[in-house]
Amino acid sequence: MKILIINGPNLNLLGIREPDIYGSESLSDIENWLNDQPESDGHSITWFQSNHEGELIDFIHGAMGNVGGIVINPGAFTHYSYAIRDAISAINVPTVEVHLSDINTREDFREISVIKDVCLDQISGLGKIGYLKGIQRLIN
Ligand code: DQA
Repeated sequence: MKILIINGPNLNLLGIREPDIYGSESLSDIENWLNDQPESDGHSITWFQSNHEGELIDFIHGAMGNVGGIVINPGAFTHYSYAIRDAISAINVPTVEVHLSDINTREDFREISVIKDVCLDQISGLGKIGYLKGIQRLIN
């Protein structure tokens, strides 16, 4: 299966950014770890990160008709980007929402995901394992 793993704003700073919340591994550490997991074998996995809403939307549009599934961590856009929600809804590609931290036990504003309803599942609070579970959810 062709799978896209999309990361939104500030996730390029993983490893440096609030390590007590997001861990000490960088995004490329997580990328390498995930690509080495047996679950990734036989699948074509493409990673994309952007701090820009429009770039994320353009990339999501590019998935239409081309990929089997998307795992997305939209970062803070999770909580208010109806434009990213609409993009996911428009392309009709199975999508799983992932968060490293548990968005339900932090600040109140993080409990709201405007993306959730257009995704197959929301996986939150499992660190990098969340991306693996996201792939498994798409494959099975
Ligand atoms: C996050 C949670 C969001 O609330 C936050 O804005 C992020 C990261 C996570 O992976 O835990 O940037 O999506």
